[in-house]
Amino acid sequence: MAFMMKQLETGFVFALTNPGSEKALKLEVEMARPDWRLSYQRRGFVTFKSSGDELFSVESLNVPVACARRFCLSLGKSATREEAVEKIVGALGEGAIVQQARFFDRKMQGVQDGGDLPQVGDGVGTVVELSENEFWSGVHRHDRFLSAYPAGDPGLVMPVESPSRAWLKVEEAVRFFGIEFSAKDIVVEVGASPGGVVLALLNRGASVIGVDPAKMAEVVMASAIENREDARRDRPWFYHCRKPAALVSKRDLGTGVTWFMSDMNQSPEVVLKECARFRKMCPSIRGALMTLKLTDLLDIGRKEEWFSALREMGFGTIRMQQFSAHHKEVVLMGKVC
Ligand SMILES: C[S@@+](CC[C@H](N)C(=O)[O-])C[C@H]1O[C@@H](n2cnc3c(N)ncnc32)[C@H](O)[C@@H]1O
Repeated sequence: MAFMMKQLETGFVFALTNPGSEKALKLEVEMARPDWRLSYQRRGFVTFKSSGDELFSVESLNVPVACARRFCLSLGKSATREEAVEKIVGALGEGAIVQQARFFDRKMQGVQDGGDLPQVGDGVGTVVELSENEFWSGVHRHDRFLSAYPAGDPGLVMPVESPSRAWLKVEEAVRFFGIEFSAKDIVVEVGASPGGVVLALLNRGASVIGVDPAKMAEVVMASAIENREDARRDRPWFYHCRKPAALVSKRDLGTGVTWFMSDMNQSPEVVLKECARFRKMCPSIRGALMTLKLTDLLDIGRKEEWFSALREMGFGTIRMQQFSAHHKEVVLMGKVC
């Protein structure tokens, strides 16, 4: 399959994005690939062509664009779903993974059909239904740091006990970046109230220090310890550090913190400043996952500044991504290696 993908060349690529993120996506493409020209566009769906005679191959899709939930080589438009699937089978062969996306309920949704998820290197087809007689076919190759789910939408359903939608965002991030937590992990989350992220992390077996002056939900307080020193080893615990991030000291954090997370409604500068300070206080931090809330999504044009701040902190693997659960926000991820 990967061999056939190598042979494939097309005159157009398309991107799937959150409706409302099209302008930010185009800005990112302009910054990364000034030779790509905007072509056809609909809500959540943007196509590009090359400015010269060059054709696109699967390698052309490796463009760091956070607002693209999926990039595909475009095989063009069809009037029916059957015709759109045929184009993909023609390109990838019988038995190829074909995923479905649709613009529905003002969202670019992945259709969860229970089919196999791709492995790294697999060719994947996507049929995008924009209206009842407008279907687009595209193909891409699955890779690390790409969503395995149709249209980059894992179709998660939030548990009723979750106190906030932040559960959806962290669960999507964990799947996307392939993050695994164990009982050895201690995550510090700044901006932790009411506790959707804390609940997800506790359920994944990690212990959490939640920094927030605001009250936490009962469902996470059920795992609370009174003092940081009371941390036990038999099951995941939660410690509420009821302060603004800037007042947190080394003593509040103790030793052994492995991840820094932020979900504060503060500017990217404040979030990154706290990330650097926390990493200095806890050199054992090996990963950072930060939701950056942007007043204007076009601020994404400053992403190089944010990446360089993370590099200065010693993070080697750095990625930024907008998820299906996001609105005017993106996630910035840094890992030590
Ligand atoms: C979007 S909510 C966080 C949702 C939370 N992560 C969850 O999982 O439910 C933002 C939180 O950031 C907190 N916050 C804002 N500025 C902060 C600061 N400087 N330090 C700590 N928390 C802060 C607010 O009190 C608020 O509870």
